[in-house]
Amino acid sequence: MKKTLLATSLIALALAAPLAQAHQAGDIIVRAGAITVDPHEDSSDIWVGALGTDVAGTKATLDSDTQLGLNFAYMVTDHVGVELLAATPFSHDVGVSGMPGPFAGLNGKLGELKHLPPTLSLVYYPMAATSAFQPYVGAGINYTWFFDTELTSEAEDKGFSGLDLDDSWGFAAQVGMDYMLTDNVMLNAQVRYIDIDTQGSTRFGGREVEVDVDVDPFVYMVGLGYKF
Ligand code: NI
Repeated sequence: MKKTLLATSLIALALAAPLAQAHQAGDIIVRAGAITVDPHEDSSDIWVGALGTDVAGTKATLDSDTQLGLNFAYMVTDHVGVELLAATPFSHDVGVSGMPGPFAGLNGKLGELKHLPPTLSLVYYPMAATSAFQPYVGAGINYTWFFDTELTSEAEDKGFSGLDLDDSWGFAAQVGMDYMLTDNVMLNAQVRYIDIDTQGSTRFGGREVEVDVDVDPFVYMVGLGYKF
């Protein structure tokens, strides 16, 4: 009799135990992981003041970089959250390609830049709060701050001086998924597109060199999250 009671009680307890709850109104979620910014690097032809013309077929180049990414999210309802993307500063090589004939020596790495792309998004989680799997979509705005821009000494020897990139405001969109490993710890993967458009400028032979760059990167992050 006692055994039956115990068994019944255990079953009742098991049934009453809450399922792992994911993403409820009021939750604060912090995610950290490896984040890669992979620029699309499409640019206008480069304006070379010393030549008085855009040079057809030229381009600005930017390589990709991986840093520590952070997300801070707050669930406004069970399905809607606001999220801030932060990261340690990204560092990219910036260069020139496509300079023809006698100017081909100007092609190659020009310098380096750093940037921070904080992004504030509204995020929608369609699944029920009881689901361990929480895919999401989001949209928001990005501000990209370029800083610590510097030319290589080789570029300075070639006759370049100064390097500057305008900061950018733009639209951002993302898809991602959390998978709850425990009530508080989750796996996360996300991909985001950020519209970053800037004008880069330097000087060559004392005359202005300018290029419009659609950086427009895909941003990939994989990591772990913790729900408070
Ligand atoms: Ni763009």
